[in-house]
Amino acid sequence: MSDRRKFVKFSLLSSAAILAGKNLFAKTNTTIALLPVPVKNEPIVISTWDFGKEANAGAWEVLKRGGRALDAVEAGVKIPEADPDNQSVGLGGRPDRDGRVTLDACIMDENSKCGSLACLEHVVHAISVARMVMEKTPHVMLVGDGATQFALENGFKKEKLLTPKSEREWKEWLKTNKYAPKNNIENELPGGIKNHDTIGMVAMDNNGNLSGACTTSGMAYKMHGRVGDSPIIGAGLYVDNEVGAATSTGVGEEVIRIVGSHLVVELMRQGMEPEEACKKAVERIVTRNPEQAKTVQVGFLALSKSGKFGAYALQKGFTYAVRSGGEEKIYDAKHVYP
Ligand code: GLY
Repeated sequence: MSDRRKFVKFSLLSSAAILAGKNLFAKTNTTIALLPVPVKNEPIVISTWDFGKEANAGAWEVLKRGGRALDAVEAGVKIPEADPDNQSVGLGGRPDRDGRVTLDACIMDENSKCGSLACLEHVVHAISVARMVMEKTPHVMLVGDGATQFALENGFKKEKLLTPKSEREWKEWLKTNKYAPKNNIENELPGGIKNHDTIGMVAMDNNGNLSGACTTSGMAYKMHGRVGDSPIIGAGLYVDNEVGAATSTGVGEEVIRIVGSHLVVELMRQGMEPEEACKKAVERIVTRNPEQAKTVQVGFLALSKSGKFGAYALQKGFTYAVRSGGEEKIYDAKHVYP
């Protein structure tokens, strides 16, 4: 991957001083004046799947104005959350096998502050509730009725998330009622319905700060109460402002077992490029259970502190969207299996 990071360095006060016709390096008694270096970074945002493109556009509105990466990722993922035609996130998400739409989400900033919720019902913008958990409570994670109660008591509107389309498909599924939920394997659901899941987004702002967000309605027709990787800090998302950020999509159970996003960031800390780190994490899933790995999809996406990005998946078909000052593009991730 190309290095997206460009520095605009006003590296030493000397430049300004020279322009101003002053010599700040002249000895003043015995000390030399060296002031801190303001550094500007090129912002970038990356997110999972083709629908990440629209989400990135929302994030870009914040980043291009010099806004904070945290605000960008929240604004970005709210776009698919509010889209009734996106059946893997927020409004219109596919329900669990009891017909209930339950949402998982988490958010993390450059200071390792994080907020998360699992099994939230009746609220479209799970990511904003997760941010509120982060900012307004002493906790990291709320679940189930407690999460919903917290959201409604704090001004989030109660809404019906099950759309007629998702309800119709669920009722069709009930006719066979085969409990074998899978994520992300294309054309897995009846009628050739694509079961893409999860928007995971990581971004860097022009101060070089990283943040990430991850939000999903989880596996279609899952057991009620089932929670995937998406709201688990370290599994579905991890941000370390010194190293990089990573997020995941796919069968959450596989990601949780290897604490995948944290693993990707730690591999980058050891010096790996983002794509290589994502590949190693995916290979860890293969090593752990090769037969199982052939039957599921997992994809990782990573952004390094230097602005490099990359991804890797178990199966063909994982795409990710990139937006920066110089690029707006959807990439096909490399994969283990053909
Ligand atoms: N990756 C989303 C889930 O497993 O729920």
